[in-house]
Amino acid sequence: MRIDVISIFPAYLDALQLSLAGKAQAAGLLEIAAHDLREFTRDKHRSVDDTPYGGGAGMVMKPEPWGEALDTVTTDEAVIIVPTPSGEVFTQRTAERLSGERHLVFACGRYEGIDQRVMDHAATRWRVEEISLGDFVLNGGEVAALAMIEAVVRLIPGFMSNPESLVEESHGDDGLLEYPVYTKPASWRELDVPDVLLSGNHAAIAAWRREKAVERTQDRRPDLTGEM
Ligand code: ADE
Repeated sequence: MRIDVISIFPAYLDALQLSLAGKAQAAGLLEIAAHDLREFTRDKHRSVDDTPYGGGAGMVMKPEPWGEALDTVTTDEAVIIVPTPSGEVFTQRTAERLSGERHLVFACGRYEGIDQRVMDHAATRWRVEEISLGDFVLNGGEVAALAMIEAVVRLIPGFMSNPESLVEESHGDDGLLEYPVYTKPASWRELDVPDVLLSGNHAAIAAWRREKAVERTQDRRPDLTGEM
């Protein structure tokens, strides 16, 4: 997979060289490049924003540098992802779907957002998705892009050293949050690991885990169970 990220703060994406995404790049499964939007400006002040038509607070990102940047990095097979709090909500299903793509281009806006014509024009040539990380507002799309990239990249086939760990995790196919987990020592600060996990009885362990996953989901995320 190839991922291009366009931002006025490309250094945000340095974090992708660490950890899992860094390993995937080293293994040749993934190629990530960050681009500075200002490289695509043509005026001497390298301006990327201007006041909004119709008035209102804040600044809007100008269309011209975005048009040039997208023309430069986007290939025919790419999906353009625009992180924005007014997008459709990102879920594990989104991550699974995007992990099967060959080229993702993240267009990270700042300020009050990007001139809508950028997305409207891009949508005549490529697939474009405006996606929100959740019902809260960040200062720009960079941190949202980092989160989405990590969620997508770990699902690329061959990426996880232990793909088994993808099987039983929160937001998986059973729609339940993950059960609580424990490791050694069996007793710590007078708190004991539940006996069943030390029993060696695999059926009992599976039943206990399922029960805890259901309890936890009902308690923390009743919206996922359909009984609010
Ligand atoms: N940019 C600002 N807030 C955001 C959010 N919640 N999700 C995605 N992109 C954003």
